[in-house]
Amino acid sequence: MKEFLASLDDIEKKAAGALKNAADKSALDLLAVEYLGRKGILTSLSKRLGSLDSADRPAAGARLNELKKKLSAIIEKKSSAFGSLAGPEPTFDHTLPGKRSFVGRIHPLVQTAELIVHIFRGMGFEVASGPDIETDFYNFDALNTPEDHPARDLSDTFYVDKGILLRTHTSTVQIRTMQTRKPPVRVIAPGRCYRSDAPDASHSPVFFQCEGLYVDHDVTMGDMKGVIIAFARELFGPEIKVRFRPHFFPFTEPSVEYDFSCVLCGGKGCRVCKYNGWLEISGAGKVDPEVFKAVGYDPEEFTGYAFGMGVDRITMLRFRIGDIRLLYENDVRFLRQF
Ligand code: PHE
Repeated sequence: MKEFLASLDDIEKKAAGALKNAADKSALDLLAVEYLGRKGILTSLSKRLGSLDSADRPAAGARLNELKKKLSAIIEKKSSAFGSLAGPEPTFDHTLPGKRSFVGRIHPLVQTAELIVHIFRGMGFEVASGPDIETDFYNFDALNTPEDHPARDLSDTFYVDKGILLRTHTSTVQIRTMQTRKPPVRVIAPGRCYRSDAPDASHSPVFFQCEGLYVDHDVTMGDMKGVIIAFARELFGPEIKVRFRPHFFPFTEPSVEYDFSCVLCGGKGCRVCKYNGWLEISGAGKVDPEVFKAVGYDPEEFTGYAFGMGVDRITMLRFRIGDIRLLYENDVRFLRQF
């Protein structure tokens, strides 16, 4: 009996020391199992009670119970102290994959404009620009487009005020450039244009053009064709063919429209080229002497060429987009693909 009580005293001392030193909740849990668990030290001692004299058993049992209670009380107290230190249970699962933040990207029209600029830079052109809101002088008069020209009609052009309008083409930048520089000038000018068109798969009241202008001594139609053909090959590959058709623009003489062989069917004919093998890109020509006069260049001394191009059209061909409206609705589900 003495021995039994002594071993309880021993255990109490050891347990009290170990519990005091327990540094965190998991150390405490281990000690609880060691002393009070089903196979713990105190449980195995209670099994030994049976081997004691029956007279001693009640006192020994009481002492054992007292020790169990003591240790449980210490463990509970410390455990709640750790609990409050650890704060509330974490509310999120940090093993879940992270949320990606949305990263924007460059609009396909701007990607195309940047590519066009890049190609012409390689041929010595620099970028010029002008405002979207223009006067009728820059949009029409200086470009040899008289008062009674149908393009000036209210149903064709968005007027902001009398004589103030949203530019209908980037040719305005030809005038602005020549007014501020002396030849040689060699510029490329991408930008938005506006016409009072009802939107459908191939028309949008806002659209994108890119203008080109070169003025120097002795510039020829051959120079112009060479630059446009080089551009087409750079853009769509060496197989592409370019066709120039006679046309009329008030500000170029002679004037042409130019087409690329269909990049989808290679010129054989398909739905996109309406089964004729060619895709219309825009107009071009030698700068009309009347335009030189409007900007104060001597038409006897200088010659030049100008060309336009539809950036929307080229974008639709590059990315196989069937409807121009998609480029202006700015639905991210569409734009995310490019
Ligand atoms: N500005 C003309 C258009 O919008 C295109 C063009 C540009 C034609 C330059 C000739 C020279 O259709």
